[in-house]
Amino acid sequence: MELCRSKTELRQLIAAWKREGLRIGFVPTMGALHEGHLSLMRAARQECDRIVVSIYVNPTQFDRKDDLDAYPHDPERDRDLLKTVSCDALFTINNEDMYPDDFSTWVIPEGSLVGGLCGKSRGSHFKGVTTIVTKLFNIVGAHKAFFGQKDYQQFAIIQRMVRDLDIPIEVASCPTVREADGLALSSRNQLLESTHRERSLAIAKSLAWATLSFRAGQKKASLILAEMVKRIEEAGAKVDYIEAVDCESLAPKETLDDQSVIAVAAFFGAVRLIDNHILKDDFPVQFP
Ligand code: PAF
Repeated sequence: MELCRSKTELRQLIAAWKREGLRIGFVPTMGALHEGHLSLMRAARQECDRIVVSIYVNPTQFDRKDDLDAYPHDPERDRDLLKTVSCDALFTINNEDMYPDDFSTWVIPEGSLVGGLCGKSRGSHFKGVTTIVTKLFNIVGAHKAFFGQKDYQQFAIIQRMVRDLDIPIEVASCPTVREADGLALSSRNQLLESTHRERSLAIAKSLAWATLSFRAGQKKASLILAEMVKRIEEAGAKVDYIEAVDCESLAPKETLDDQSVIAVAAFFGAVRLIDNHILKDDFPVQFP
């Protein structure tokens, strides 16, 4: 695996691969890698000749300094995991090189895609995400980039950004990977206290329950969402939001249908977890 610590180094490597006619897949990450990230790399491996992974904890997408400071990192473990999926190049960079002192150009998403869900509660989070993802797309110059469905709104915004700004890259969303007991994998899970880890299953359980209720004929979003809030709060969490939205426009839905996605964000202690499920799909884990 090549380690590229500067834009120039990475660009030279990519240019050489492109001269050989190789197809390049890209998985952007913030490190603290887990099986969810590795599944994206395996998907990239299926379709591409070379895989580039970036590890960069992007400060501009954190709206709280304590959240940025607490973000887990374990670079050695990350590098070992990358070798297990035969990653070809790892790109890391420091903040000064990514955001020079006089940095002054941002990509700012607007409209219904950012109006709800995490866009409501996380301030300038998506401005930070779209700006860094644009920069990474420009630096790497890959043919295709792979993202996880767990960050549903993030992918919808990036997909729209690629279309709106004519960025020459394909983007793909890959299924959420879960622990055997249903918890969606996230780098933040390792920050959960053990009692909260157990209780956080309420999120996946309530999404599974919502899917079954919808299939049994309940189409009224407000009734399903209210019951989900109740169940997640009973598990001791502070609900940030639970919303039913259209899977493409992310506009709120009052009447649920197959195109609806239910998305959740909730705090267990200080740890904010997100998860979602598209109602047309079976929930992948069954609960007793
Ligand atoms: O999903 C993430 O890990 C981050 O938001 C991303 C896409 C790497 C941008 O920093």
